[in-house]
Amino acid sequence: MADRRAVRVSRFGDASALGIADEALPRPLGNDVVVRVTHASVGATDLLARRGGYVFQPLPGFTPGYDFVGVLETESAVSVALGLRTGARVAGVLPRMGAHATRLTLSPTFLVAVPDALDSAVAATFPLDAVTAAAALRLTGPGTGPDRRLLVQGASGAVGAFAVQLATHEGRTVVGTASARTRAFAESLGIPVVDYHTADWTGAARRAAGGPFDGAIDHTGAPRVRDALAPGGTLVRTAFAGREGHERSDSLQGAAEAALRRHGHPRERVCSIPYFVLTRRPHYRALLRGLLSAVDSGRLQPPTPEVHAFDDVWEANRAAEHVAPGRKVVLAA
Ligand SMILES: NC(=O)c1ccc[n+]([C@@H]2O[C@H](COP(=O)([O-])OP(=O)(O)OC[C@H]3O[C@@H](n4cnc5c(N)ncnc54)[C@H](OP(=O)(O)O)[C@@H]3O)[C@@H](O)[C@H]2O)c1
Repeated sequence: MADRRAVRVSRFGDASALGIADEALPRPLGNDVVVRVTHASVGATDLLARRGGYVFQPLPGFTPGYDFVGVLETESAVSVALGLRTGARVAGVLPRMGAHATRLTLSPTFLVAVPDALDSAVAATFPLDAVTAAAALRLTGPGTGPDRRLLVQGASGAVGAFAVQLATHEGRTVVGTASARTRAFAESLGIPVVDYHTADWTGAARRAAGGPFDGAIDHTGAPRVRDALAPGGTLVRTAFAGREGHERSDSLQGAAEAALRRHGHPRERVCSIPYFVLTRRPHYRALLRGLLSAVDSGRLQPPTPEVHAFDDVWEANRAAEHVAPGRKVVLAA
């Protein structure tokens, strides 16, 4: 019996490579629960994976989607121990994608409750991006206040905008990068922004900060980012933009080189949320719970959702390719 619908990447390519499969819901094992997915975001990593450039999805046939909001259809002893009963509204990040489906069978340890007043479409815009920003920020090292200078690459992006907000709340001096296209949005977050296309953008960023950075969050893998940092600083890489057609191998190489510089000057760290979610479950849940609460209370500004029907996944993917800064495409089942 087909009791769920799931988006499938049938081959690597553009949005036409997607299909929707009717299939049986995986049977819950042990303490697994069933979630009826109501909303799931379509983000940069989904697009990269669909095109065949994502290192964690080397073969077609997978269901994209890292994060979701939904309703618990069943409960288990573990979900009840976590305070999650049938009917609860929950959010989560999956370690291996798969959220672009109408129902999920999964361990409740991936789930946290969504605050009552928080709209489901809004809540679905940010679990992966906000957890990435928060985890990357922590990896830049301890310490708060204006003496701590942070560079955020792609400050207008989904992850970057959260990193800027979180670091600003800690009182850090934050400088962002963006292109002319999205610069105004990044500046609206209250930080100086330099255009990463300009020749001496690392120097301009250091001058805007009043000195070299002791932390940077970067999703490009560009070697030059190191020039912006003090020798004792920490550069956190969240992604490695590869050459077209070589994204996966370039990404693996970038991660290996960053790992070799773990004790360098500046040092480098790689921030992988799939790995974090898989291996640090209580820590991940605490982080996501705090971020949902910060958005609910207005302390963090989430993106504005652009909601598309689940059956319109093709249009949703096309929209996500050109989404404006401060907005996020969300599938609604
Ligand atoms: N490590 C993890 O676990 C994890 C989790 C989530 C996402 N990611 C990855 O993180 C990256 C960013 O994700 P996102 O959702 O924030 O993407 P996004 O919303 O598309 O934002 C990317 C931002 O980067 C900027 N940008 C583009 N080229 C740049 C360059 N050469 N130098 C500096 N900035 C540049 C863009 O600004 P302009 O449009 O102005 O160029 C845009 O604001 C993606 O590669 C994604 O796959 C990793």
